[in-house]
Amino acid sequence: MIAVTVTVNGTRHDVEVEPQVTLLELLRERLFLRGAKEGCGVGECGACLVLLDGEPVSSCLVLAADADGRAVETVEGLARDGALDPVQAAFVDHGAIQCGYCTPAMVLAAEALLRRSPDPGPAETAEALAGVLCRCGSYPKVLAAVAAAAATKAVR
Ligand code: FES
Ligand code: FES
Repeated sequence: MIAVTVTVNGTRHDVEVEPQVTLLELLRERLFLRGAKEGCGVGECGACLVLLDGEPVSSCLVLAADADGRAVETVEGLARDGALDPVQAAFVDHGAIQCGYCTPAMVLAAEALLRRSPDPGPAETAEALAGVLCRCGSYPKVLAAVAAAAATKAVR
């Protein structure tokens, strides 16, 4: 077993894990944060995307041990005082959610994009979200939602 200290959505967790346990498994099975989804489990679909030290990663490809000492953000950490984050709200307002399986990953990828590029164009947004597959084909509404979220954040 390996001792791991990881900060998830601002809360420190001290856990012991088997060497092969992934960050996705740690989040879902040990910390019961089920926003990150397991789609393919091999780095292809992006459904497991979380932010690791602010950068989008496929958590199925990251060993929990490699998250030691690092900060993880999941979709569960975005809302503040019961209010949705602007990106989450824009996804709801624009109907950018169908089955919802890709949505936590899409939202987090959009969050990372808007932090580094507050006013992205459609091509930049599409590129930033390209690693997350949406089997429902909600991409046009997702792009609209991200543009709206950028505008909302700009006036805050
Ligand atoms: S479950 Fe991680 S990329 Fe598909
Ligand atoms: S909304 Fe269903 S996979 Fe994207």
